[in-house]
Formats: sequence, C-alpha cells, structure tokens
Amino acid sequence: MNKLKGAFAIAVICADYPDELIIARQQAPLAIGFGQGEFFCASDTTALVPHTRAVLTLENGELARLTPLGVEVFNLAGERLKKYPRTLSWNPVLVEKQGFKHFMLKEIYEQPGVVRTCLEAYLNSDWHPGDLSQMPMKLELPAELYADLEQIQIIACGTSWHAGLVGKYLLEQLAGIPTMVQYASEFRYAPSPLTPNTLTIGVTQSGETADTLAALAMEQQRRFSQLPKLQPRLLGITNRPESTLAQMVPNIIDTHAGVEIGVAATKTFVAQLMAFYCLALDLALRRQTVSPKGLELLITGLRQLPAQIELILESLDPYIQELTHQFAETQDFIFVGRGINFPIALEGALKLKEISYIHAEGYPAGELKHGPIALLDAKVPVLAIAMPGSVYEKVLSNAQEAKARDSRLIGVTPKNDLEAAQTFDHLLPVPAVEELLSPILTVIPLQLLAYHIAASRGLDVDQPRNLAKSVTVE
Ligand code: F6R
Repeated sequence: MNKLKGAFAIAVICADYPDELIIARQQAPLAIGFGQGEFFCASDTTALVPHTRAVLTLENGELARLTPLGVEVFNLAGERLKKYPRTLSWNPVLVEKQGFKHFMLKEIYEQPGVVRTCLEAYLNSDWHPGDLSQMPMKLELPAELYADLEQIQIIACGTSWHAGLVGKYLLEQLAGIPTMVQYASEFRYAPSPLTPNTLTIGVTQSGETADTLAALAMEQQRRFSQLPKLQPRLLGITNRPESTLAQMVPNIIDTHAGVEIGVAATKTFVAQLMAFYCLALDLALRRQTVSPKGLELLITGLRQLPAQIELILESLDPYIQELTHQFAETQDFIFVGRGINFPIALEGALKLKEISYIHAEGYPAGELKHGPIALLDAKVPVLAIAMPGSVYEKVLSNAQEAKARDSRLIGVTPKNDLEAAQTFDHLLPVPAVEELLSPILTVIPLQLLAYHIAASRGLDVDQPRNLAKSVTVE
C-alpha cells in the first residue's frame, strides 16, 4: 500500500490465502460491518444497513484483515490498531421501499417525520414563548464557535450548496452576519482572503464528498499556518455522524434524516434547511438580533411545518402526477424565485434535470429579462415560486413577463390567492407561512414535479444515469 498513489478504497483477495480479505483506505470511504458469523466491507455504510448495524469506518492510511477469526486493523507501518465498531441508529426498514414505487417518493413522504425529528433534536421542548430562564435551541455547540463572529463561509456542492444559499439568507437576515457560500470545487483553487473570527461551515449530507472534504482540510491547514494564534472554527452539517467529515471537524450538526437511498437528495435537503434555521436562530438569540416576538413567531411556525408538509403531499401529489402528462414533450424548463426562494428555484431545476434529463435552469426572477427571456416561447414552461412577503408582487410581475412570451406558467403560490389564480395557468398551492419559513414548503411540489415527470418517462428515478450518491472523487 505504501507504493500506491491517489485516492482509493480497495479489497484484495489472494489465491494463496483464500480465508483472508485485505482492505485498505486512502481518501475514499471504507467501512467494515460486523454481522452474525460474517463480516462485510463497503464503500458506504448504507450498503451495510440490511445486514448489520455494527460498523467500523477506517481512516485514511488504514488497512484491515478480515478472516473467519475476526478483524484486525493496521496502520501503514504495519502496527496493529485498537478500534471498535459503533452502532448505527438506522433501522433496516429504512432501506426498504415499503410499498412506494421508488425510494425517492418514499423519501419525499418521509419529510414531515424528518422535520419533526429535527425539531425534537434542536428545540428545547420545555421552552415556551416568553421563557427567559432557558434557551429555546439545544444545538450544544461550544461558545468559542460563536464568540465575536464577524463572518461565515459555507462550503458545499450540489443540493447542499443550495441549502447553503438558504442558510446564507437566514444567517444574514436573522443573525446579521455577512455570509459567503462557496462551491467546494471552486474554493479549493481560489479561496477567499483569510479573515479572523470566521466560522467555516461544510455542508455535505454524505460527509464523503471529496471536494468538500478537501476544501475544508485546506481551510483548516491555511488557518493553522497563517493565523496561528486563532483556533480555526469549523462546523460540519451532515446526515452521517460516522462519516469522514465528522471525523475531520470538531463540531457537527447531525441532520437526522435517516438513510437516503435515492440519488436525488430530498429529505436530506429539508433536514439541512432545518439545521440552518436552528443555527441562525441560535446565533440571532445570542447576538440579540431577533425580537422575542419574532423568535416566537418563527418557532411557532417551525412547529407547524410537519403538518403543513403532510397537507401538501396529500393535496398536491395526485394533482402533480396528473399535470405531468402535459409535459411529456417538454425539453426545457425554467424555474424562478426571489429572495429566500431563489435557491429553491435552483434546487427545483437541479432535481428535474438530474432525474428526468430535461434541460432545466433556475434563475432569480428579476434576472429573466437580462437574457433568459430570449429562450421563452410556448414550448418552454416557467415555474415561479411566489410566496407572500417582500418579493411577492415582484415575482408575479416577473411571471407576467414570461406569460407575455406564451410560456405556460406554473405557480407555487399561497392557498386561495386570487391574484395568483389570475396569473398562473397551473397552481401548486401551499399554506401561506412566514416568508422565511416558506422554502421548506415550496420545495415539496418541486420534488414531486421532478419525480412524476421522471417516473412518467419510465426512467430510473433512484439511480439516474452518470450520477452517484456520494461523489468521492474530485
Ligand atoms: C442532488 C445531489 C447532489 C449532491 C452533491 C453533494 O440531488 O444529490 O447534487 O447534493 O453531490 O453531496 P453531499 O451533500 O453528499 O456532499
């Protein structure tokens, strides 16, 4: 192994030693499962869940020998290491479809439960509005992470990057902290100039995305060497507390979404948003940038979200399934939103393109007329997210610009809204909630739309072509 170069996770068997399996890890995930009279190795713990919950994840530069007698772990110098398996909290039932046609649909339907679990994990159930004796949040992050914070940088890829954009909105608008969101693959080769009192947040549901891990490692190293007097402040947001990310950064927020099998992220995205709501509220409280009334409003609103998601699933799923027949020939789709719902437009477009292979773009609605409007005609539908709040009227007027170019208009709008009913050809109504909370609801119809379009085309929804659940290569 000392001679090998690059990133790998390998398993080797030799004809001379038929009872031994040697496995080794360097910069790529590798886990050992301990079953009943059997051992397993896998590049992802999800694969082990149907067989066992006792799992040992190897670290970079470690090897293991699996024989009928047991498992031995070594470092590159050949020294034996003492390591113990941990028990995953996942239930094997999670890796079954339970009557759903695809894992993605099942995972979309799990979202009310995921939000409930996040609320239980992050909110103090004893706290009530007006209670000054205790904090409403229980994130349990160390005070050093928050002290004199001047800036936050969020590093992520794909859907997690979209969650980061919603996070930026919340951290800036609620806690008043300037926040940048960086693509990990870009940040690695052009990091922003170093600033002190900066919190770096890596967001990755798998905790194994190579670019995100490398960007965080680089940032940690850069801060140690260039700002040696300041301890780097690193936080990970992940769905995998056993992942490489969790081993790498000292603090994590576990998103508690349970194993996600569908390649397209759905419930883990919503769980990442929940982590950002609670982090932003926690910071806002400590910095006193949110009024007690505002806090009460948001916490009450957060608690209502699970029932509201259930309502959306119940009322919109059959309608969206029906609606998708009208897009059988569609080749291009535009998604627009503004403010906190702009990242949701990006996410809706990403979901659609990755599982249905339809070309889809997300834009801030105000940008339509700066170029993309040239694409619009009767063959290019436009989906606009128009929720009550600071940009509602603006989005409606942007949608009308698209209508004037003959585009079919779909609106994710508040329920029973007359103005929306007059503007859009098709309505996907969701409960009218506080604008800041609306992304958790507006993303649900977009996930359903992507799902039903792909399923109606007979595509492999859970395993779209060319994509992997964990992108462990650069
Ligand atoms: C989209 C999707 C990808 C991932 C991206 C980052 O549905 O699943 O865009 O979001 O590969 O993955 P994680 O969050 O594991 O770092």
